[in-house]
Amino acid sequence: MSIIKHRILGDHRGQLVAIEGQKDVPFEVKRVFYIYGTQLGVPRGQHSHHKTQQYLIALNGSCKVTLDDGKKKITYDLNQPNIGLLQDALVWGTMHDFTPDCVLLVLASEHYDEADYIRNYDDFLKVVGA
Ligand code: TYD
Repeated sequence: MSIIKHRILGDHRGQLVAIEGQKDVPFEVKRVFYIYGTQLGVPRGQHSHHKTQQYLIALNGSCKVTLDDGKKKITYDLNQPNIGLLQDALVWGTMHDFTPDCVLLVLASEHYDEADYIRNYDDFLKVVGA
């Protein structure tokens, strides 16, 4: 779990951030999805993955992400479009406190596969041996 700050390739025309798989994030990017229009007070995520690594960036607005490895929980603020958070496999993740304008981009290391999800917290604790 780590926060990565990307270089802003800005000039007088505006800003640009480039992120390359296996260079700026430590996996090959196989899938991209984004969460937006989240209703006030509603959390998202609340699951873990057996294999998938994810990289989260609030492209617009802000949200918080709480990552839990079964032993400790850390809450991160995602509030800049050049800051990303790596969520490793077998880490329980909850995205919350979305601003209404938040667009949360997620880069994922695997294609979508429901079998890769752990959606029950007690099952998660058993899998990580906590
Ligand atoms: P869901 O897992 O509920 O989102 P959250 O991360 O907030 O828990 O996903 C919502 C729906 O979208 C669900 O039916 C699964 C589907 N989905 C895909 O088809 N592909 C994807 O890459 C993702 C992340 C979700």
